[in-house]
Amino acid sequence: MKKLKRVYVCQACGATFPKWIGRCDACGAWNTLVEEIEDILPSSVVSVPGKSLELCPLDGPLVHVDRLLSGVTEFDRVCGGGIVTGSILLLGGEPGIGKSTLLLQLLARLSKAYPCLYVSGEEAVDQIRLRARRLRIEKTAVSLIATTRLEDVLETLAQHQGAFRVLVIDSIQTLSTSLLDSAAGTVAQVRATTSALTELAKTKGLVVLLVGHVTKDGMLAGPKVLEHMVDTVLYFEGDRGQPFRLLRSVKNRFGACDELGVFEMHDTGLAEVPNPSAIFLTQRQEPVPGTAVFVSIEGTRPLVVEIQALVGSTGFSTPRRSVVGWDINRLHMIIAVLETRCRFAFGQRDVYLSVTGGLRLNEPAADLAVAAALASALTNVALPLNTVIFGEVGLTGEIRSVSHHTVRLKEAHKLGFKHAFMPKDKKKGAELLEGHCIQSLQECLRTLDMVPRRGRTGSSTLEDT
Ligand code: TYD
Ligand code: MG
Repeated sequence: MKKLKRVYVCQACGATFPKWIGRCDACGAWNTLVEEIEDILPSSVVSVPGKSLELCPLDGPLVHVDRLLSGVTEFDRVCGGGIVTGSILLLGGEPGIGKSTLLLQLLARLSKAYPCLYVSGEEAVDQIRLRARRLRIEKTAVSLIATTRLEDVLETLAQHQGAFRVLVIDSIQTLSTSLLDSAAGTVAQVRATTSALTELAKTKGLVVLLVGHVTKDGMLAGPKVLEHMVDTVLYFEGDRGQPFRLLRSVKNRFGACDELGVFEMHDTGLAEVPNPSAIFLTQRQEPVPGTAVFVSIEGTRPLVVEIQALVGSTGFSTPRRSVVGWDINRLHMIIAVLETRCRFAFGQRDVYLSVTGGLRLNEPAADLAVAAALASALTNVALPLNTVIFGEVGLTGEIRSVSHHTVRLKEAHKLGFKHAFMPKDKKKGAELLEGHCIQSLQECLRTLDMVPRRGRTGSSTLEDT
C-alpha cells in the first residue's frame, strides 16, 4: 500500500520541503509554501515489471494533424494555423484582461461547426449569459455549465457520449478533484486536474482550452509544471488603460512560438486588428526630435512601432533612467556606447524611453532605433519623415545585421515609408526603399546630422535645448 507523507510545496516553483519556512530556498519567494500530501513511491521502482517496447526509426509514416479553424483569424494564426484536435492549450493573463471574453467569442465561432462546452468555475451561468448578450452571441449553440468539480465535468462529458469537440475550463485554478485533500489552485490539484484533462484530450480527440491565472509578476500561477503539461501556452496581455490586447504564443508543440495576434476591446467585445502596424504608429505630418520608427518582428509578423525618447537635465544626484516597453539594461548599454564611442554626454541628464502602443520589444534589432531616438532627443535634430531604422549595436558602435531584413523593409514599404537606415552587409530588399546601409553608429548619426557640440573645455557637452 502507498504511504502518505505531508510536505510543504512552494506554489511559485514547485520545490518541496519537509517543514514550513517563510521564504522558499529554491526560488526566494515569500509565503508561498502550502501543505500537501505527497505520494511516496514503493522502495524500488525496479520491482515493478515493465515491458520491452518496439524501437522506432525517425523516418516513418506521420499521424495527420487535424486542426479546427475557428474563423478568429488572429487566434488561429497564433495557434499555428488552427487549434490541433486532441491538444490542450493554456491561456494565461491578468485578471480583467479579457480571457473569458476571448474564449466565449471563440466558442461562439467554433460552435457553428463543432459542439462546444464552456465550464466556468468563476462565474455563474447567468453572468455568462449576460456577457453573451452583450457580445451578441447569445443565439449560438455553446453549452454552459458552472462547476468547480472535475468529476462533474467528466460525468457531463460522459453523459453526452463524446458529443463535444471543444472544452473550455475557466479557470484551471478553480477546478479541483475530490481525490485530493488540498484546496483548489494548489500545485497538487492543478497537476491532477490538468493531467486528467490532458488524457481526456488525447483519448477523445477533444480540444481543451484552459484559462490560467497569472501572479503579480506576470507568470502563470502555479509551478512551471502546468506549462510543461500542456501543448500550447498563450498569454493575453495589454495595458488596461488602452484598448489593445496582444495574444502571444510562448510555447507551441504544433507551430512557431512568439507569434502575435492583436485584438481591440470594444464595448461589444474583442475585435481583431488585421493591420496592427497602423495602430502602433503615430501618424505625423512633420518630423519631431526624439522619435524613431522601428520595424519589429513578432514571431513571423512585422510590426512598425515608434520609439520615443526624452532627455532633460536632472534634478537628482543620480540621473533617472526610465523605460517602458524595452529592457533597462539594454538602454544603459546604448547610453554607454553613445557616450564612449560617439562622445555624447548623458551624465547629468534624465533619460526616458518609451515604445508606443503598449508593445514590449525584445529584439536587439531595436538598438539602432533607440540610439537614434536618444541622440535625436539630445541634439534636438529630428530624423527625416518617412524613415525607418533598425540594426543591432555592438559595444564598439558597429552595426550588426539582423534577421528578417527583407520582411522589415517590405512592411515599411507597404506603409508608405521611403527611407531606411539599416545594417550594411545585406542589400536585399533595398530597392523597395531608399536605403542607407551603415557600418557604425558614428556613421549613422553623422549622416543624420546628429553630432555632439563641443564645450569650452574641449570635453563633449551639449547646450540645453
Ligand atoms: P474578462 O473576459 O472577464 O477578463 P478575464 O477573464 O481575463 O478576467 O474581461 C473583463 C473586462 O473586459 C472587463 O473589465 C470589461 C471588459 N469588457 C469590455 O470592455 N467589453 C466587453 O464587451 C466585455 C464582455 C468585457
Ligand atoms: Mg475570467
